Amino acid sequence: MKKLTVILSAFLMIMLLAACGSEAGKEEKANGSATDSEGGDKKSIRVVTDAAYAPFEYLEGDKIVGFDVNFLNAVAKEAGYEVKLEHVGWDPLFVELKSKRADAGISAITIDEDRKQTYDFSSPYFLSINKILVPEGSDIKTAEDLKGKVVAVQSGTTGQAAVEKLLGKNNKNIKKFENNNLAIMELISKGADAVVADNAVVEEYAKNNPQQKLKVVDDPDTFDAEFYGIMFPKGSELKADFDKAIETILDNGTYAKIYKERFGTDPDIEKLKQAK
Ligand code: ARG
Repeated sequence: MKKLTVILSAFLMIMLLAACGSEAGKEEKANGSATDSEGGDKKSIRVVTDAAYAPFEYLEGDKIVGFDVNFLNAVAKEAGYEVKLEHVGWDPLFVELKSKRADAGISAITIDEDRKQTYDFSSPYFLSINKILVPEGSDIKTAEDLKGKVVAVQSGTTGQAAVEKLLGKNNKNIKKFENNNLAIMELISKGADAVVADNAVVEEYAKNNPQQKLKVVDDPDTFDAEFYGIMFPKGSELKADFDKAIETILDNGTYAKIYKERFGTDPDIEKLKQAK
């Protein structure tokens, strides 16, 4: 009988401990779900892009990938936002932001005075310059040589503006396309003598498609340095949060890591900060 009591009380003790254990477990879970729901409260924002501009944004299957995507995710994480990125195309991107249907746009968008009239930009996150993509044997050696040639550009880009400055605004030799890949296709099918677009884009294309026998011509005396920014509707409250987050990831090495993974070199962080 005594033995039974001992067994019984031992059993009771175990039950009690188990109950305590599961109570503690419950509490932990409750805490866990509290942070989860904090995550769920994260403000979700709709970001639009033109995913036809490798290596910045392009489609892999139906997934949008590229430097801008990695950068955006890092910034949004730092700022505490959940991002829904959507490929809408270049011209629609501006329309969506103007009408405030989208919260932000990322698309290798150059910060320029014209756009600043209508939109707000984050602080600069990438240094770029227009370059000229031509067939290997081309006699185009400088921007000046584009005069008298047929030049393909993506419509509404700084590439278009740069070529217009050289050839004249309504020059019929400037062929404008909805996206930059179509401009490159025009060059390959010999409908154009050159494409003018952002350096990393034309360099990546020439490198990844050696069978097309293309080369890149640069002319830093003619083309201006440009900085990319995340674009917001005018007066957006996101700008302050994003600028703060950009500064943090520039300082804490996250930006450099993302940059190096994509481009294989170190970014000039000081230059970006000076351009602010
Ligand atoms: N940086 C240039 C501009 O802002 C070209 C950007 C084009 N971007 C794109 N995703 N197609 O005008």
